[in-house]
Amino acid sequence: MALNSHPNRIYFFVFYLFLYYKTASASSDFYGATCPKALSTIRNEVTKAVAKEHRMGGSLLRLHFHDCFVNGCDASILLDDTSDFTGEKTAAPNIKSVRGFEVIDTIKSQLESICPGVVSCADILAVAARDSVVTLGGPSWTVQLGRRDSMTASFSGANTELPSPIFNLSDLITTFSLKGFTVNEMVALSGAHTTGQARCVFFRNRVHNETNIDSTFATSLKSNCTIDTGDDENLSSLDITTPVWFDNGYFKNLLSSKGLLHSDQQLFSGGSTDSLVTKYSNNAETFYQDFSNAMLKMSNLSLLTGTAGQIRTNCRKIN
Ligand code: HEM
Ligand SMILES: *[C@@H]1O[C@H](CO)[C@@H](O)[C@H](O)[C@H]1NC(C)=O
Ligand SMILES: *[C@@H]1O[C@H](CO)[C@@H](O)[C@H](O)[C@H]1NC(C)=O
Ligand SMILES: *[C@@H]1O[C@H](CO)[C@@H](O)[C@H](O)[C@H]1NC(C)=O
Ligand SMILES: *[C@@H]1O[C@H](CO)[C@@H](O)[C@H](O)[C@H]1NC(C)=O
Ligand SMILES: *[C@@H]1O[C@H](CO)[C@@H](O)[C@H](O)[C@H]1NC(C)=O
Repeated sequence: MALNSHPNRIYFFVFYLFLYYKTASASSDFYGATCPKALSTIRNEVTKAVAKEHRMGGSLLRLHFHDCFVNGCDASILLDDTSDFTGEKTAAPNIKSVRGFEVIDTIKSQLESICPGVVSCADILAVAARDSVVTLGGPSWTVQLGRRDSMTASFSGANTELPSPIFNLSDLITTFSLKGFTVNEMVALSGAHTTGQARCVFFRNRVHNETNIDSTFATSLKSNCTIDTGDDENLSSLDITTPVWFDNGYFKNLLSSKGLLHSDQQLFSGGSTDSLVTKYSNNAETFYQDFSNAMLKMSNLSLLTGTAGQIRTNCRKIN
């Protein structure tokens, strides 16, 4: 039978029409007219950067998280300090820790050359986080666009509004609920620790002093993270079993007491989130669904839109 006489032809046609209108009307198409290559440019650079260094996927994902939790998703984290301005980069959770700024710079300079003054740094961060997860084998979601960039940042907000690796479960629940997240969403978002690395300074106490940790796992970490402070910068993977891939390995590790950070293991330590961790460890698809939805919500935190803020030409400084 010829394709054009296929009895389902009309249904295909209606389906494509539906897809067309869905895409064209959503703000996921925000740059459709003004910078049609924006999304492919970001995706290409993220793919390249992650191929060069797998860790970069996690680094870019974390950059978006640390941006959104402080003053909303407004690229405030990208502003460099100057002689009369202290941004977020030297706050405790960020200093010597957040990375990926050069990748964002490369993307921004490419976008400035093809469509100057159009694509915000905050949107670049949101799309790069999604593309990182996809590149590492995780789920995808449609990023809403149209964020604008801040003209300010908050050093104190970065110090107080981000979760700490020494937090217990109730601290974690509180920190995320202050940003509007449920306990379930907090656990799903924590699954980001299925990729990337952490420094010894953040897990020393856990591997040397804690008891709810697998003893073989603890021993393997001690040699690279000794009890004195010399090894602060040595790295270990957050997910010991599948260090790079975005999967549900993080939750499986927690079931066998192989969470790297104190805060990680808190999610499976006899408290109210044990059953969720078990659920995600058994079902990657459920984790992916919940993670994607929670990321959409996180990417939506107090956005600057309309004429608020600006579109920075250099993500590191205000115009
Ligand atoms: C639940 C509370 C959380 C705490 C206490 C926490 C804490 C940390 C710490 C201490 C590190 C290591 C930093 C370093 O060694 O310099 C880290 C790394 C990381 N975090 Fe979190 N985090 C949390 C939630 C999240 C969320 C919600 C995301 C993203 C959605 C995320 C993504 C990452 C990634 C991907 C890395 C690895 C980064 C890299 O290798 O460059 N974290 N986190
Ligand atoms: C969690 O830690 C906080 C301090 O950060 C403390 O006040 C609280 O009692 C602790 N909660 C539990 C259940 O251990
Ligand atoms: C282990 O705990 C003891 C007692 O709380 C503390 O003095 C010591 O600094 C801890 N060790 C590490 C490596 O954090
Ligand atoms: C861990 O850190 C110490 C102190 O900086 C350093 O001497 C050692 O070589 C590091 N280990 C590895 C495997 O890099
Ligand atoms: C030890 O630390 C180094 C330096 O950060 C890191 O490259 C290496 O992967 C670590 N080794 C282990 C076994 O964690
Ligand atoms: C994001 O914000 C917009 C506008 O406030 C809202 O319509 C939308 O439902 C939000 N999406 C999510 C996932 O929270």
